[in-house]
Amino acid sequence: MDSIFSGVQPTGNLHIGNYFGAIKNFVEIQRRENISKTYYCVVDLHTITVWQDPEQLKKETLETAASFIAAGIDPKKSIIFNQSRVSSHAELAWILNCICRIGWLNRMTQFKEKAGKNKEKASVGLYAYPVLMASDILSYKSNLVPVGDDQKQHLELARDIANKFNHDYKVEFFPEIKPLIFGSATRVMSLRDGQKKMSKSDESEFSRINLLDDKDTIRNKIKKAKTDSESIMGLEALEDNGEFKTDIVVQRPEAVNLLNILCAAENISKKEAVSMFSGKNFSDLKEGLSDSLISKIIPIGTEMKKMITDKKYLSSVLNTGAEVAEEDSKKNLLEIKNIIGFN
Ligand code: TYM
Repeated sequence: MDSIFSGVQPTGNLHIGNYFGAIKNFVEIQRRENISKTYYCVVDLHTITVWQDPEQLKKETLETAASFIAAGIDPKKSIIFNQSRVSSHAELAWILNCICRIGWLNRMTQFKEKAGKNKEKASVGLYAYPVLMASDILSYKSNLVPVGDDQKQHLELARDIANKFNHDYKVEFFPEIKPLIFGSATRVMSLRDGQKKMSKSDESEFSRINLLDDKDTIRNKIKKAKTDSESIMGLEALEDNGEFKTDIVVQRPEAVNLLNILCAAENISKKEAVSMFSGKNFSDLKEGLSDSLISKIIPIGTEMKKMITDKKYLSSVLNTGAEVAEEDSKKNLLEIKNIIGFN
């Protein structure tokens, strides 16, 4: 049986990249068969790798939990909790820090991007961030991890850490970790720059559609989204397998991004999306995309806003989730300690 784990940072500005790239898939997986458990975690320990305002962090933690439930994750089927409530995550992370090699962490592109030029001033936590991710997954011996494309390298590292642990202690304890990266929008790009990933931390509000945006804001942001000067491409832009050709992605990243978002929102193939708008102007595509996003995102945002006012309910979901997660991870941690030789 498969066990699922994934996490989202409570850093605010949850956007359609987080939704189409990850949260929507969390909901889908929850319905699959052959799954023993699904753990969906609000990863608050990860957020403090850069300073967070304490009051804001509390608020964003509830908001992220609300986004899970509003998107369709059922707290009765899935374990929803926040990471700092379950001590095994930090404890196992230390053990895995002793397994992971410095050279492996040095290759992490996200650390390089986030630390920027001032690497010496970045926190040790930011550097060791992917080890904590490995610990999140392995605390539950989960094997499948639904994420957006940007987390692939971190999951490869988590897999390497698990394999090295098994190898060093001559056990078959941890399972093989596999990323689940699927859907039409595994990497949603910024609406201002098709070469840049849509991100919670982008200074420009116009770069992303937030889950809490209202109708007018969604329409306005799509209207202002960057485009090129040509009309929408035809079917010759697609490979035989239905994906956009690489040269099209390079030459027309904004057009490809808008079409990919449409595919994700409407659950249609790229062929269908391209056929609908081939030869038309961007204004037509933008109108169709706005309507589509409004019909898919506004109900989630409305539900989130309603739920955020019910702190008692959200806290009770997180409390129940943390109790189950604590119990499950403790069992594994005891076995791990035994393997290592701790009395
Ligand atoms: P975070 O909080 O940055 O993002 C949450 C999820 O959203 C996906 N995502 C995107 N998908 C498509 N297009 C985008 N523009 C986009 N931006 C974000 C991310 O890939 C992610 O799946 N390190 C993780 C959280 C984490 C985690 C874990 C994930 C901590 N521990 C263990 C899996 C397993 C992160 O920062 O996600």
